[in-house]
Amino acid sequence: MVGAVGPGALGRHLALVGFMGAGKSTVGARVARLAERPFVDTDAEIERRHGSIPTLFEERGEAEFRRLEQAVVAEALAGDEPAVVALGGGAILSEATRALLRRRAFVVRLAVDVDAAWARVRRSDRPLARDEARFRLLFGERENLYLDVADADAEDADDVLTAALAVHVARDSLAGALAAAAPGGAVVVDERLPGLEWWHGLAPAVPVLTVPSGEPAKTRDVVGRLWEELAIGRDGTILALGGGTTLDAAGFVAATYLRGVDWVSVPTTLVAQVDAAIGGKTGIDLPEGKNLVGAFHLPREVVVDPDVLATLPERERRQGMAEVVKTGLLAGRALWELPEEDMIRACAAFKCAVVLSDPHERGRRAILNLGHTFAHALEAASGYALAHGDAVALGLLAALRLSGQPTDVVEEVLRPRPVSVDPEAAWAALGRDKKGRAGRPRLVLLRAPGVPEWGVERPEPEVRAALDALIAR
Ligand SMILES: NC(=O)c1ccc[n+]([C@@H]2O[C@H](COP(=O)([O-])OP(=O)(O)OC[C@H]3O[C@@H](n4cnc5c(N)ncnc54)[C@H](O)[C@@H]3O)[C@@H](O)[C@H]2O)c1
Ligand SMILES: [Zn+2]
Repeated sequence: MVGAVGPGALGRHLALVGFMGAGKSTVGARVARLAERPFVDTDAEIERRHGSIPTLFEERGEAEFRRLEQAVVAEALAGDEPAVVALGGGAILSEATRALLRRRAFVVRLAVDVDAAWARVRRSDRPLARDEARFRLLFGERENLYLDVADADAEDADDVLTAALAVHVARDSLAGALAAAAPGGAVVVDERLPGLEWWHGLAPAVPVLTVPSGEPAKTRDVVGRLWEELAIGRDGTILALGGGTTLDAAGFVAATYLRGVDWVSVPTTLVAQVDAAIGGKTGIDLPEGKNLVGAFHLPREVVVDPDVLATLPERERRQGMAEVVKTGLLAGRALWELPEEDMIRACAAFKCAVVLSDPHERGRRAILNLGHTFAHALEAASGYALAHGDAVALGLLAALRLSGQPTDVVEEVLRPRPVSVDPEAAWAALGRDKKGRAGRPRLVLLRAPGVPEWGVERPEPEVRAALDALIAR
C-alpha cells in the first residue's frame, strides 16, 4: 500500500525523471523487474491510448500533449500498489505534476550529459529532438526543474535501487557522514575502529559509545548498557559504525530506545556493506541461538564507504566474498569479477531490490538465504567456531548440487574446505533451522543462475547426502 512509508521508495511509488535520452524507460523497466513492481512508462501509455507522440504534437499541439501527459501521470501515481513510473522528459513542466510527485512518490533523477543524450535521440522521431541547438537550450532550461523535484540522483539501475532505500555507495564518504552527525544524537561504534588509521582526524561532535568487537556486541548486556548511556531525545539520531554485529545491536537499540529513534548505518566490513547494513533487520543473540530477539527498523540512511575496507583483515574479506558470490548467483551476474566499488554497489542494489519487494520477509526475501540452511547447521555443529562466510561457501556448494547447477564459481572464488564437525549434530541442527517446517528444511535452490526458487522441500536422504558432503571424514 502506498502510504506505509519507509525511507526512500519503500511503500511509495518510485518515479524516474530526467531529460530525454537519459534511459528512463530501459532503467525503469529493469528496476521494476528487479523490485517486482508494476512498471508504467508514461510516454508508452500515452501512445497506447492516443497514438504516436509525434503525430499528437503535430495534430493537437504541445499544450494538448502536456494535458494528456499530466492525466496519465496522475493516474499512475494514484494507484495504491507501489509502482515504478518513468515520466516523459517534459512531464515535470506541469506544476500539478511536480506537486503530485512530492506527495506520492520518491523521485529519482536519471542523470545524463547533454552530448550523450543528443547522441541517443538525434535520429529518433521525438518532436523536441529535431534541432540540436534547441535541444541543448531545452536541456539547460529543464535541469533545475529536475533537481527541484528529485529526492536523489542516479546514473543506472543499480544507482536507482540503492537510492530507493537511501543507500549511498561512494568512496571517501565516511568523514562527511560523521561530520553530519546531528547535534542531540550519538555515535555507536565497534571499539576497535577508533584505533584504525582512517579514524584519526574524524572527530564526531556528539557522544561516542563503544560496543565490543564481534558477536559479543549482540547481547542483552550491551544493549542494556546502551539504553542506559544514551542521552538523546525522540528526534535524536544514532549513527552506527562497524560490521554487522555493531549494526545489528545498535539498530536494535534504535528500534527500541524511546520506542524507536532514527538511525544511520555506516557499515565497515564487506559483509555489512553488501548485506547486513541493508534492509532493516536488527537484533541480538540469546544463549539458545543467534538473532532470536530483534526488530525490523530501517536506517534512515546507509553510508557505504569502500575506502574503510583497506584495514579489513583477509579473513573478514573472505566472509564478505561468500555473500558476494551468493548475491551474484541469485542475480545471475558475475558480480565477484567487478572492481570493488562496483561490486559493492551491485550487491547492495540487488539486496535493495529484494527488500523493496518484500520488506518484512513474507516471501521472496527468503531467497537471500541461498546456502544458509546448510551454513547455519554447520556453524551450530561447530559451536560457532566456523565463520559464517566460510559456512556459507560450503552451503552454496550444497545448494548448487541439489539444484543440479555447476559449482565451479564457488570452488574457484571461495575455495571452501570440508569442515570437521559431528555429522549427527549438523543434521540435528538442520532440522531445527527456524526457516524449516516440522523438522523438514525448506531450501532456496536455483533453477538457473539468476532464477532462484524458495520454500523447496527435498527428500531427506538427498538433503542429508548434500550436508554430509560438506563434512570432512
Ligand atoms: N541484519 C542483517 O540483515 C544481517 C545480515 C547478515 C549478517 N548479519 C549479522 O552480521 C554479523 C556479521 O557481521 P560482520 O561479518 O561484519 O562481523 P563483525 O561486525 O564482527 O566484524 C568482523 C570483524 O571486523 C572488525 N572490523 C570491522 N570493520 C573493520 C575495518 N574497517 N577494518 C578492520 N577491522 C574491522 C570487527 O572489529 C570484527 O572483529 C553477524 O552477527 C550476522 O548475524 C546481519
Ligand atoms: Zn549470510
